[in-house]
Amino acid sequence: YKLKGKDYSQTEWFKEMLLRTDYVTDVFLGYRKIPHFSIIIKKQSVYRDKFWLLRVSINMDILQKFASNLEISSQDDAFIINKDRILQTNSKLFGNVLEPLKLNNIRIETDKRSVTIYDIEFNRKQAYIAYAPIKGTPWILVTTICSKPYKKIPSLFTKEVTLISLLSIFVTFIVITKSINTLVNRIEKADHEREIAIANAEHSDKLASIGRLAAGVAHEINNPLAIINEKAGLMKDLIQYGDLAQNKDRFTQLIGSIQDSVARCRTITHRLLSFSKKIDRGREDFNINEAIKEVVGFIEKEIQTKGINMIFDFQENLPKIITDKGQLQQVLLNIINNAVDAVEQGGTIEIKTLLLDTNHIEISIKDNGIGIPKDKLKHIFEPFYTTKKKGTGLGLYISYGIIKKLGGDINVESEVGKGTIFTIKIPVNPELEEIK
Ligand SMILES: Nc1ncnc2c1ncn2[C@@H]1O[C@H](COP(=O)(O)OP(=O)(O)OP(=O)(O)O)[C@@H](O)[C@H]1O
Ligand SMILES: [Mg+2]
Repeated sequence: YKLKGKDYSQTEWFKEMLLRTDYVTDVFLGYRKIPHFSIIIKKQSVYRDKFWLLRVSINMDILQKFASNLEISSQDDAFIINKDRILQTNSKLFGNVLEPLKLNNIRIETDKRSVTIYDIEFNRKQAYIAYAPIKGTPWILVTTICSKPYKKIPSLFTKEVTLISLLSIFVTFIVITKSINTLVNRIEKADHEREIAIANAEHSDKLASIGRLAAGVAHEINNPLAIINEKAGLMKDLIQYGDLAQNKDRFTQLIGSIQDSVARCRTITHRLLSFSKKIDRGREDFNINEAIKEVVGFIEKEIQTKGINMIFDFQENLPKIITDKGQLQQVLLNIINNAVDAVEQGGTIEIKTLLLDTNHIEISIKDNGIGIPKDKLKHIFEPFYTTKKKGTGLGLYISYGIIKKLGGDINVESEVGKGTIFTIKIPVNPELEEIK
């Protein structure tokens, strides 16, 4: 649909959204002249004084299908109306979508909260009318039943198929809304991250250019987005053409893929987010040996499972170091995690600390793992360089940035088949460093 450039600012839904955070519209024709309804979500920006609206338009056929599914026999009529008694789906007896209900003597109290059932004489036959509001929407579901005796009516509402259809539609709505919401969040965060990364990189003399990071972020996020898009399309087709109850497994599988992709985006944006945290906030003094022990504690279980031999060669009586503990621990975690990944079952990792001079401490992390080929060594600090199936390739890139910001330095030596050693040099008190 060629909707580019359309001005929605005068539409009813846009005006509604100035006052609320989400909104399900009535069925309307819109620019496309096709009966449809919209679900709109508002995302208020935390960074700037503005908001985004995300609008999903869904063709009325879905409601029609949903209503028709509830008809037990061909004489029955199930349809949806809004609070003004305008039909939101076609009704067999009372008119077509967007027309007002044809029969005026049908009593419907639009503000009722629960199911209401009563009987009427209709075409000289006894019939029953039942209606109930659909929660979270502006609609009321109405059914007229000519085929079944009164006492069977409640079975309509408990019928397994009905329940499953209702549940599937509900779950799908929730999943789609949640995924969209999460994505909007992530994209917004990623946007913000990029701005911060750009600001930081101005001070960074060594790292790869910003364009590269931006292109990398876009590429890494576009892949899962494409997957989500494809799976959502399939789900839409299933809803439109398939039997929901029969396709339950397929749905679960599709939702699973969507969740995996969202998780992938989340990993990337989280890593970038932690990278951009301001350093000054967390400055405190602490013992580096204890901080290292804490980090190893975080991954104790993995170390045990892999039967890794951890050796600590700590210099005693080191001066307390004044820096952002959380960020330094993040660097240590990234590097130790890489070492854990690199070694075989039963491998060895050795962590050393050493006072280099009055204001510098050296931490080295040595493993006897696979090692890094000489020609790859220059790439390991670049964003998104990874040789791992599930790696983001951000670990070392982020670590390098943090160490530089903390006023330190990081070096690596490696030999294929023998192992790798990362050496971090960090000032005890960065302020003394600056005076120098
Ligand atoms: N100790 C090591 N031994 C062997 N190779 C390593 C080691 N540390 C890093 N590498 C190589 O450098 C690459 C980049 O590491 P980095 O930590 O940036 O990303 P990753 O570990 O692949 O992904 P992530 O840390 O996000 O899960 C790794 O994929 C690996 O090929
Ligand atoms: Mg890593």
